[in-house]
Amino acid sequence: MNKDKAKVDVVLGLQWGDEGKGKIVDVLADRYNTIARFQGGPNAGHSIHWAGRSFVLHSVPSGIFRDGTENLIGGGVVLDPIIFRKECSEIEKLGVPVRERIRISMKTHLITPTHRIIDAASEAAKGKSKIGSTLKGIGPAYMDKTGRNGLRVGDILAPDFQARYEALKNKHIAFLKQFDYTYDPDTDAKEWMEAVDYLRTFDLVDGEYFINRKLAEGESVLAEGAQGSMLDIDFGSYPFVTSSTTTCSGACLGLGVAPGTIGNVYGIFKAYCTRVGSGPFPTELFDATGEELRVHGHEFGATTGRPRRTGWLDMVALKYAVMLNGVTELIMMKADVMNTFDTIKVAVGYIVDGKRHDSVPYDTYAEITPVYKEFKGWNCDLTGARSEKDLPAAFKDYISFIEQETGVPITVISLGPDRAETIFRK
Ligand code: IMO
Ligand code: MG
Repeated sequence: MNKDKAKVDVVLGLQWGDEGKGKIVDVLADRYNTIARFQGGPNAGHSIHWAGRSFVLHSVPSGIFRDGTENLIGGGVVLDPIIFRKECSEIEKLGVPVRERIRISMKTHLITPTHRIIDAASEAAKGKSKIGSTLKGIGPAYMDKTGRNGLRVGDILAPDFQARYEALKNKHIAFLKQFDYTYDPDTDAKEWMEAVDYLRTFDLVDGEYFINRKLAEGESVLAEGAQGSMLDIDFGSYPFVTSSTTTCSGACLGLGVAPGTIGNVYGIFKAYCTRVGSGPFPTELFDATGEELRVHGHEFGATTGRPRRTGWLDMVALKYAVMLNGVTELIMMKADVMNTFDTIKVAVGYIVDGKRHDSVPYDTYAEITPVYKEFKGWNCDLTGARSEKDLPAAFKDYISFIEQETGVPITVISLGPDRAETIFRK
C-alpha cells in the first residue's frame, strides 16, 4: 500500500435504500483494511450471502465476513445495544471472531428503548401522514443527539451511567405525555442494560483517531453508507426521509475524516427503483409489472418485512444523487430481475403543473408525471453472465444510456446475490 495515498472510498445507495450495499461492500471488502459504517442505525438491513447462508446486517459493518478486515462503527451511527448483541451472537455462532473484527467509536449515540417508544408514538400520532419509519428509534435518537441530550457509547464506561440513563428515560416520559399513547417505560430496560454490559466487552475507540491513524499508516478504508441519497435528511424528499446524512459528506461527519481524504465514490443503484415507507416515488408502478419486480426481485424489507414499492428507473433522481455525491463509479444491481421484460422504461424528465422539469422539485407533494424513454428488453437470462462478452446487445444499450446520462462509468454489474455473480468492467 502506498503510504502517501491512503484514501477513504465510499459506498453509497443512490436511491431510496435497499440498493444492495451489503453485497457490494462484502465483495469489495478484500481490497480494504477497514470497513466503516458512518451513519444510520438498525433501520438499515444489509444482506450478504456467506457460507451458503443469507445474513441481514443492521449495525455491524458488511466487512465482518472477511478475514483480516477491521470493522468500525463510526460516531455518526446510532446503535441499539440489544440489536447489536443479537446480531453479533448470530455471527459468532459461525466462528467469526466479532471482538477481534469490530471497533466501536465512543462517540456513537445509543438508541434506548424509550427512543423506540417515541418513534412509535409519533408515527401513530401522524396518522395518514406518517413517515413509514422502521420504528427502530432512529429519529428520536438523532433528535437527542442534536438536542444535546443523547447518551453515547463512551458514556457506558462512566460510573454514573445508570443514573444518566434514568435521567434520559424521565425526559422521554415527560415528552411522551403529549401523545395519547399507552406504553410501559420499562419495556426492554433490563435486556438493554444487559446488552450494554455486552457492549463493554468490545474495543471502544476514539473513532476519528482510529481512522486517521489507519490512513496515515497507508491503510485503505471503505466507508459503508446506509439508506440512500433520496432519504437524506437535507436532500431527500423531506419530511419522508431518515434522520441522517446519507450522502457522501456523511462519511466525513460520521468518521471524522477531512473531505480531501475521500477517494472513490461508488454509487449503487438498482436497474429499477424501490421504496419502502411513505413519500414521493414518481415512477411507481401499481400494475402487474410492479408486482413482477416485487416478486422476482424479492422486494420485501430486510429489516421490517414490508413489501417494497416498485417502479421504473428514475434518471432525474439518479442524476441528482450523482451530483450530490460526486460519484466516480456506478454499480448496477439486479438487472436480471427484468430478464423477461419486452419493454423497459426509464424516466428522463418530470411533468409538474404541465411543465417539463429535469430536476427534482422542491415540493415533496408535487404531482409528478414521469416522461419515459423506452428500451427494448434483452429477453434472456443474465444470471449466468460472468463477463462483458456474455452480455446481450440490448442490455449493453441500457447500460450505455445510463452512463451517457450520468457521465459516470458503470464499473460493476451485479446479477445475483452471490459474490461470484458480479461482473467487473474495468
Ligand atoms: P438500507 O441501509 C430502505 C426508510 C423507512 C422510512 C424512512 C424513515 O437497508 O438501505 P427511519 O426508520 O430511518 O426513521 O425511517 O426511511 N428507511 C429505509 N428504506 N432501506 C433502508 O436502509 C432504510 N432505512 C430507513 O422505510 O421510509
Ligand atoms: Mg436494506
